[in-house]
Amino acid sequence: MSTDDRTIRLADYRPPAWRMPRIELTFELDPESTLVHGQLHLERADGGQGPLVLDGEALELVRIAIDDAPLSPDAYALTEAGGLVIHQPPERLTLSITTRIRPSANTSCMGLYLSNGIFTTQCEPEGFRRIMYSLDRPDVLSIYTTHVVADPARYPVLLSNGNLVGETLLADGRKQATWHDPFPKPTYLYALVAGDLGVLRDRFVTMSGREVALEIYAEHHNVDKLGHAMQSLIKAMTWDEETYGREYDLERYMIVAVEDFNAGAMENKGLNIFNAKYVLARPEVATDSDYEAIESVIAHEYFHNWSGNRVTCRDWFQLSLKEGFTVFRDQEFSADMGARACRRIEDVNVLRTWQFAEDAGPLAHPVQPPEYQAIDNFYTTTVYNKGAEVVRMLKNLLGWPTFRKGSDLYFARHDGQAVTIEDFVKAMEDASGRDLSQFRRWYVQAGTPRVTASGAYDAEAQRYTLTLRQHTPPTPGQPEKAPFVIPIDMALLDREGKQLAEGVLELTAAEQHFVFEGMPERPVPSLLRGFSAPVRIDFPYTAEELAFLMARDDDDFNRWEAAQRLMTRVLLGLIDDVQAERELVLDPKLSTAWGHALHDAKLDARMKADLLTLPSEAWLADQCEVVDPHAIHTAREFLRRALAEAWEDSLLAVYHTQQEPGAYEPTPEAIGRRRLKNFCLNMLMALDHDTHHALATHQFRVGHNMTDVLAALQSIAHSACAERSSVLAAFEARWAHESLVMDKWFSIQATSPLPGTLDEVKRLMGHRAFHLANPNKARALIGSFARANPVAFHAPDGSGYRFVAEQVLKLDALNAQVSARMAGAFQQWRRFDPQRRGLMRDALRFLAAQSISVELREVVEKSLAEDA
Ligand code: TRP
Ligand code: ZN
Repeated sequence: MSTDDRTIRLADYRPPAWRMPRIELTFELDPESTLVHGQLHLERADGGQGPLVLDGEALELVRIAIDDAPLSPDAYALTEAGGLVIHQPPERLTLSITTRIRPSANTSCMGLYLSNGIFTTQCEPEGFRRIMYSLDRPDVLSIYTTHVVADPARYPVLLSNGNLVGETLLADGRKQATWHDPFPKPTYLYALVAGDLGVLRDRFVTMSGREVALEIYAEHHNVDKLGHAMQSLIKAMTWDEETYGREYDLERYMIVAVEDFNAGAMENKGLNIFNAKYVLARPEVATDSDYEAIESVIAHEYFHNWSGNRVTCRDWFQLSLKEGFTVFRDQEFSADMGARACRRIEDVNVLRTWQFAEDAGPLAHPVQPPEYQAIDNFYTTTVYNKGAEVVRMLKNLLGWPTFRKGSDLYFARHDGQAVTIEDFVKAMEDASGRDLSQFRRWYVQAGTPRVTASGAYDAEAQRYTLTLRQHTPPTPGQPEKAPFVIPIDMALLDREGKQLAEGVLELTAAEQHFVFEGMPERPVPSLLRGFSAPVRIDFPYTAEELAFLMARDDDDFNRWEAAQRLMTRVLLGLIDDVQAERELVLDPKLSTAWGHALHDAKLDARMKADLLTLPSEAWLADQCEVVDPHAIHTAREFLRRALAEAWEDSLLAVYHTQQEPGAYEPTPEAIGRRRLKNFCLNMLMALDHDTHHALATHQFRVGHNMTDVLAALQSIAHSACAERSSVLAAFEARWAHESLVMDKWFSIQATSPLPGTLDEVKRLMGHRAFHLANPNKARALIGSFARANPVAFHAPDGSGYRFVAEQVLKLDALNAQVSARMAGAFQQWRRFDPQRRGLMRDALRFLAAQSISVELREVVEKSLAEDA
């Protein structure tokens, strides 16, 4: 089959030929052989005559009947892809099908599988077809009834979507639970869980006074780690009522934590299934970042109940309809919970590090992709994070009250429907009366626009003219781009930092001039405040102007941005120096501005840590014409050490003032203090002094929360100090039984810049806590090595590439979603020096020559494609 035969196109979309208003499923659970009995109530929707084609994959067909009459073998056929065709179906029918599946042999984490002995499902996007033949597409909505039958000794808890109808003991000793979900939904929102689980319960009273039972399930030994998730859920439910007027709609809301999961979590109706990493927390085992990630993922899945479930997607090209909107919703929720500016900085950092890179490479695609081979490959940072930025721009252009009116209209108009991104934009258009034709380009054109700004000051006329130009580089299949609507939130500042003008400029053409009268002096522009559009923006700032903005801009995001620009500029110079073998020296202007911020008593602790943090190696790579990871690392380490040397006493002083006596609390203030303290420790560790080693070792020993312990562990493990191996061993001994903590231990070692890391990683693959088939483990060790260890992954001899390519191949046989994602580590290959470029291409070609999954093949072939 050629690559093109597999391509599925939005342009080919046709409404479903059949409806399936109701489906009843009975599961007889057994790890080796589970029987699934389905009763599918089907009716023709297109008035046509064609056969009934059902999706299926890796299913064994045990029985098939129409309206209780067994079907003769010539009345149906199994397709090559694993589906089923019924040649001459009646207009309406009840199709009874029994399939046999083997959960214990299923390593894909899709369909029905086992995780630590717990039966669990993942159906989005196309996992349901591994359970039952069906119309596995999001525009077919059905009401589900499920009977779960299992041995109650091994599987006392039996769950599915909706409300519990009843539980009975069958004559043969098995237990049966019946669940009914009154809300029509597509197959991808279906879920079932069965196992020996513990639970934390709570209640929530909705805005209209209905009581909802809240239940969070986990393995028994983890039930003491569910409190934070429960609090997060209650906060999210409250926020969605207050902010969007959205109320929960079932009698219960269940969350289950499992160890084996391909993504973060899944919004199945009334029964969310989560990667345990985004549920379990106690101060001793989870870091501040874990606490925050849990709060936002819990919220994300909860918000999907409206933006995704009540109103769902017509087809998978519309994925960002639910994901972009829901990410925007969860980002704003998190910002409302505290540290708004810092949360924005973190979200923008993610976007610029990963999405900008994707958008500049061979896998670039619009927020609404026009085609795909494997939809699994389109759960991307573009669909999620850029999609959220596009919704954010809409909110900023319309203003919150109008945006909220548009959101209300969207939910009211489309409740119970499967719709398109266009329906969402139309609702916003209707609610605002604003023409969004040009705005729609954000959904269909890939690539990151580059905005070039320049200013001219006429002292005599007291006039400042700001010129803005936009250009979007070509992306695969899109050589030419039309201009976007780019909202540029900005201010003009005088030398005291006072605003002389402010507002949102709308750049809609290739070039525009904006004239400001009555300017008594040449102002300093503060542009793209709060990162008001997902673009790269350049302005010819002097170093003095950047230092001024870093200290004085009244937009916190832009203070950080000025610091990043200043540091990036200095680092790009140092990278050149490394390559030219010139001596490296600390830029005095940067050092002064940096020290100034370190001493700024008015600056909030977390903001200070963010402001002082050096740009990542990944971001610096993005800024380089040709990427030399070794030079980037050397330059950045030099600057880190030089700043630490220049400000050693101050760093120590700040470190000591941020100590907190009391018990751990994940409040924004306490998180900020720990962030700054551990930032100082990390800087000091660059100096390689025994006293700082002792400081870190002490923190490691006495730390009473994982945030402090892990920060100490990381800075010790990433430096060649004498305590390194004993500290790593102590941590391993202490946490050997905590799977999620061991992931941190694997990941810290995999990201070490010290020589010998690859051998270490190879050795760790034999560790008894490591299992390649567990996605968290594969990501912690191999994924971290490939994506967060530029020095070792890009070793000039190609050893890092060969290792990752071999692991990707091994993984592909187990789990194609995980392998395809990991292969993304090679997508940037054209941006490197000729030697690395050749070695990375060899790794991709090696994979292309193997027998690999459709998912992995799409990533590999698109990465290698000539036109990219
Ligand atoms: N819809 C999920 C979300 O909230 C994403 C997801 C969960 C997923 N499990 C998956 C995507 C498995 C692909 C495969 O974002
Ligand atoms: Zn989502």
